[in-house]
Amino acid sequence: MSQTQGGPKRPPYSLKPPYNALRWNQRSFAVLDQRELPLKKRYLELADINSACKAIRNLAVRGAPLIGVAAALAVAHAARKGATQQELVRGIKKLAATRPTALNLFVALDRMKALVERRPPRDKIVAEALAIWKEEEERSFTMAEHGQRLIRKDMKVGTYCNTGALAAPGVGTALGVIIKAHLSGKRIRVVVPETRPLLQGARLTAWELSQWKIPYTLVTESALASVMGALDVILVGADRIAANGDTANKIGTYGLAILARHFKVPFWVVAPSSSVDLSLKDGAKIPIERRSADEVRAFASCRTAPRDASVANPAFDVTPAGLIRGIVTERGVLSAPYSKSLRK
Ligand code: MRU
Repeated sequence: MSQTQGGPKRPPYSLKPPYNALRWNQRSFAVLDQRELPLKKRYLELADINSACKAIRNLAVRGAPLIGVAAALAVAHAARKGATQQELVRGIKKLAATRPTALNLFVALDRMKALVERRPPRDKIVAEALAIWKEEEERSFTMAEHGQRLIRKDMKVGTYCNTGALAAPGVGTALGVIIKAHLSGKRIRVVVPETRPLLQGARLTAWELSQWKIPYTLVTESALASVMGALDVILVGADRIAANGDTANKIGTYGLAILARHFKVPFWVVAPSSSVDLSLKDGAKIPIERRSADEVRAFASCRTAPRDASVANPAFDVTPAGLIRGIVTERGVLSAPYSKSLRK
């Protein structure tokens, strides 16, 4: 993140990413446009709530904790530019309608709404958004510390989608753990599935790992069964975790967990408490985002299927808790039964 007045303090040196997903200063708010990575590193100015909604919906900014923070900052930015209380409440409603699965978006917006409804001075609204940002950042550093104990020297570590600092403030969730293990001198190698259809693994995780100079191998999802036997451990993130530990994450995570069980590879979830939804007893009611058919009919901008091909494009799936070895949150490494450990 851009370190400017009012923003959260610098993270501990070793975990400070060499790139900033969010840029906030006294006048402006921008996000690193993740649609353009790894080819271009360009910031997208979010001048108002409508442009923030668009950026979240089209994945210019993405990843569960990061969209929560981006949405809170969008509200704060609108407030300091003079939006009325009514406009802010309307804006919060629009932001909440951008993406349904990641709980973090709603946790952050509920907090902003509760404050806005009390008609506080503008600087209080800004302070609240910055506090949400800082809290997520701190959770990420704590999770990295807890989780790195699961990784031993020379391990081959699998992951999925993108869960680094492009997905969560600080150092990320699952990728944060991997980065911390690398920085602790564990000489790991990461296996990165490309993550069709939008290639968050190939475009973003591979890019983040190269920024950190962490050795990795990029594979297609079709290669996963062939490479799984060589993996020692798998760490993934979460968009929403139900009270029993069922976990929604990027589409393909469920298949990866089934493969991991077949090959006896321990499969861990890393997510902050802002992704834990204790109101849902299991994963059946987690809302799953359905995205445009064109994301599947094309590869980048090149069409690869008939224009009218019938397509199913769920963006997330739910991995049953029984396939998960444990869940790392900022509170430590939690094990089953999650209905107890997640509640403590
Ligand atoms: O659709 P995306 O790219 O926002 O999906 C992101 C993921 O599925 C991540 O794994 C998830 O947000 C958890 S890591 C912060």
